[in-house]
Amino acid sequence: MAILQRLRVKQIRFTARLLGAVEALPGGGRLMQPLANWPITAPVLNAILGYQRVFDDLPQALAAAEPYFGGGHDAPGVGALHLGLSQSPRPSDYAAFYHIQGPVSRWFKIFDLGGNVGNLFYCYKRYLHLPPHLVWQVYDLPKWMEEGRRLAAENGERQLQFTRNWEDASGADLLLVSGSLHFFDPPVYHMVTELREKPAHILINRSPLIDGPTKATVRDDGFFRTARVLHNRGELIAAFETIGYALIDSWQAPELSLRIVGKPEFSAASYSGLYFRLKPQN
Ligand SMILES: C[S@@+](CC[C@H](N)C(=O)[O-])C[C@H]1O[C@@H](n2cnc3c(N)ncnc32)[C@H](O)[C@@H]1O
Repeated sequence: MAILQRLRVKQIRFTARLLGAVEALPGGGRLMQPLANWPITAPVLNAILGYQRVFDDLPQALAAAEPYFGGGHDAPGVGALHLGLSQSPRPSDYAAFYHIQGPVSRWFKIFDLGGNVGNLFYCYKRYLHLPPHLVWQVYDLPKWMEEGRRLAAENGERQLQFTRNWEDASGADLLLVSGSLHFFDPPVYHMVTELREKPAHILINRSPLIDGPTKATVRDDGFFRTARVLHNRGELIAAFETIGYALIDSWQAPELSLRIVGKPEFSAASYSGLYFRLKPQN
């Protein structure tokens, strides 16, 4: 990244933190929220906050942040970051364990959408009794799949496989969408309808679901930035119900949050998890 872009990233980060701290003060919301919404002040605030604000959709967020991505999902070190983060389970992983541990002995395939180098496989297999016949198949960007294959070979892990063919999710016992739902456009519920056979269960974890209408934003993860969809919670659940799923459970993922200055309806005090089961077909 060029020096001017690096300075702009620092300015956006500093301003967002400062204004966020003001908003968190008693009565701060009553100051920041009108500023973020008044027709005269909103464009000024948006200019100051750069990509760290609300966009109408993912392409707009991607376009605004593109010069500042720092490699985005492909940034060097992202694979190591995810492996490091899943050395031990994060709080929301326990909800996933709860739903997976019973039925997994009867399952044949877990399809891990956005599964990076297989970080969750390595973490989850220490806590769940994965049956030897089960295949854990990861779909991710080519760079991480290549790295994941190399790691799996190094570790002699034959249960862990990688694919770039979405159709391989067809008929999976579980579609695991952990920390990745918000990166897919068209949304995952549309992708699922393209499959010949829908997965029997869908477990979404660590996604920033919001109360306001579905929008998009950019998250700054320190050494890289990524654009993401902010799904409206009710709309997302209804979309999965429309394609044949029943919501079984939902939970908070308190390890992650996303705050947008002056916009509580587009902020997530904690990320969320959802578990769906495919309803019997007539
Ligand atoms: C936050 S990580 C989640 C890693 C892991 N599932 C977990 O919960 O710890 C998001 C993953 O989504 C992947 N991803 C983002 N956009 C993608 C796309 N268009 N196709 C495939 N993978 C994508 C990233 O490469 C990254 O590995």
